Amino acid sequence: MNIPRRYESLQDFIALLEQHGELHRVRTTVSADQEIAALTDRVAKRKGGGPGLLFEQVDNYNWSSATNLFGSLQRCAWAAGVEQLAELSQRFEFDLRGCAKKTAARRLERLVNVSGLQPFIVDAPTCREVVAAHIDLTTIPLLRNFPDDGGSYLTLAQVFTDNPVTRRNNCGIYRVQLVDPTHLAIHWHDGSDGANNFRAYSDSGKKMPIAIALGGDPALLFSAAMKLPETVDETVFASYLRAAPLGMTPCLSHQLRVPASAEVVLEGEVVTDAGFIEGPYGNHTGSYQPEHRCPLIHITHLSHRHRPIIPATIIGRPPTENCYLGKVIERLILPLLKIDHPALHDLCMPLEAVFHGCALVSIKASTAVSVLSLAQDILDGPWLRGVRLLVVFDQDVNVHDPSMCFWQAINHLDINDDNIKIGAARIFDATRKATDGAPCRRSPAIEQLVTRRLEDYGLREIME
Ligand SMILES: Cc1cc2nc3c(=O)[nH]c(=O)nc-3n(C[C@H](O)[C@H](O)[C@H](O)COP(=O)(O)O)c2cc1C
Repeated sequence: MNIPRRYESLQDFIALLEQHGELHRVRTTVSADQEIAALTDRVAKRKGGGPGLLFEQVDNYNWSSATNLFGSLQRCAWAAGVEQLAELSQRFEFDLRGCAKKTAARRLERLVNVSGLQPFIVDAPTCREVVAAHIDLTTIPLLRNFPDDGGSYLTLAQVFTDNPVTRRNNCGIYRVQLVDPTHLAIHWHDGSDGANNFRAYSDSGKKMPIAIALGGDPALLFSAAMKLPETVDETVFASYLRAAPLGMTPCLSHQLRVPASAEVVLEGEVVTDAGFIEGPYGNHTGSYQPEHRCPLIHITHLSHRHRPIIPATIIGRPPTENCYLGKVIERLILPLLKIDHPALHDLCMPLEAVFHGCALVSIKASTAVSVLSLAQDILDGPWLRGVRLLVVFDQDVNVHDPSMCFWQAINHLDINDDNIKIGAARIFDATRKATDGAPCRRSPAIEQLVTRRLEDYGLREIME
């Protein structure tokens, strides 16, 4: 199959999904209040993640909404411009190898800065086809997911901020709640660059500019969801991922820039001296995250394509779309982790832990340091921040096979000795110990003999 390396816009990606039978158009009228979420959840739980969904008629709104677009490994691979996600890792690993720097962060900086992929300015951007004369955010179909959610949300918002001291730009994905026709509330985790930029603006007493873009090339979505070093601009990394500079356009009201091909762009400023009670929010943990104070955004400008499609994702029990987004990040983190920890062989962030809760790693046999101190180094590094459970296996254990991992862990873990607590995380060493005895493996010659003789046993058909 011929998968494009990049997409000009989200609508291009949607067209590709449709062409390959991976998109279902819902033509009947549906409600943004829980109905789209409930249907999306059912579809996403189907084997293989179900199709992406395009809701053409959202009750009370003029614009369409799309969910589950990235709800399978296959669609995520296509969104990243590859046929299989493994290719993404291999390509990234190869490119990083060419950068002679010691740490993964420095190699990444070098890679993106020498690759000539600086975003460029687009003169007549499609995201400005319509510049709204009057702002009314309640006309955008935002979804309410669960009945007791505090409101409706933007769930795939690419949020642009900068740092008033370093002047570095940042783009991250954060949930954003609708407050009223001109205000939104944003949920920044402590430690995110977005939250750090907010603090820096609050300290400086200056107004904080902010812009939110929906849509554009999915490469930016992956880049924004990844915890990149502060020195790597997400738009430059997205340009690397798509192997071509990303087209950007200056905001109408301040110095930030947004993707030129976005479906919708919202601009405004963060109201630094006031807060809003955000939530409750039904989270991927299966529980509501309680209400809490968070920064309020005043939206001053709104522009969009002629017929924009609002991308959204729903949160809840895995598998949901963001589990697969997490798999893209996993494949991008692996080559970086391998540079900082050459003993590392593979990484799996299980879907159930959505992105960061748990990491299963396998390591090469001949590591000089103890398994627990290697694992501690991994957690101390920048790439697996937020992991609360790290389990280490031998290289021959397929960390993507939960049954194998559980089998190995239960048999090789001394629950008293083989674990260590690091801050809020616990590490388990499930590698084979000297006292475990040699692994029992079948003879390759006998395995070949059995394969050869399947016909004789009358089992060829059953076994194939
Ligand atoms: C669908 C989705 C929703 C997310 N929601 C939030 C959120 O509400 N708050 C947050 O801090 N991070 C959230 N994240 C994770 C951040 O996007 C991610 O940690 C990113 O690297 C943060 O960037 P920053 O450190 O540059 O600010 C979300 C990620 C995804 C994919």
